Amino acid sequence: MSRRKLIVGNWKMNGLLAQIGEIEAIDRLAQEKPKVEVGLCVPATLIHAASGVARSAFIGGQDCHMKDSGAHTGCLSAAMLKEAGAKTVIAGHSERRTDQHETSADVAAKAVAAHQAGLNVILCVGETEAERDAGNAEAVVSEQLLDSLPQNAAAAWLSIAYEPIWAIGTGRTPTMEEVDRMHRALREALRSRIGADADNMRILYGGSMNGANAGDLLAIADVDGGLVGGASLTAEKFAPIIEAASAAG
Ligand code: 13P
Repeated sequence: MSRRKLIVGNWKMNGLLAQIGEIEAIDRLAQEKPKVEVGLCVPATLIHAASGVARSAFIGGQDCHMKDSGAHTGCLSAAMLKEAGAKTVIAGHSERRTDQHETSADVAAKAVAAHQAGLNVILCVGETEAERDAGNAEAVVSEQLLDSLPQNAAAAWLSIAYEPIWAIGTGRTPTMEEVDRMHRALREALRSRIGADADNMRILYGGSMNGANAGDLLAIADVDGGLVGGASLTAEKFAPIIEAASAAG
């Protein structure tokens, strides 16, 4: 079983056309480290321009609607993202689960819609600080994963991102032991649903990953990559994470 390391930047609500040079620079990093699969999930407004300059990194979106079309003002279908140049889409990021009240059932439906449109999916799960403090983070996140995972999930098109909510944008991370325990628990949960294909499915870590901690995180056996927010906004900050993944891969 060998899972190619996957490092994906999530630019969230950051980035205008003025940052296209940064995307080109990140694409060059991807070209220099072919062992690593590198992607950048940019705001939808940048997908077309970004996919026009990206040669080695793939471009993704950050959300899609679960329906193909219809009266949903302001929403984008998976086919629209694909047409703009996206190869992947994030589903169920905790910021959307919180801000847009997305449920795990919504997330599963979005993943199905994305797959039907020909997009890959990065499905996000993670616990709150209160759930971690209560001592049942693995059980909570495993249940959230199984509730969010579409019935037809397969490693060929879907990856998981474990993002503890309290670690996002805070500079705090779980201990390496906690990450190890969680990723092993999630692999077991996947095995209970999709059998042997669980060993092919990539489970990324996200939450304050940076150039200083990426090497340790990516050395954990069941950590197959990273979903990176703040440290993906410039090639300078993103480079050491991609390098760490290449060294670990
Ligand atoms: P930060 O890397 O900024 O903590 O964000 C993580 C994240 O939410 C990626 O999706």
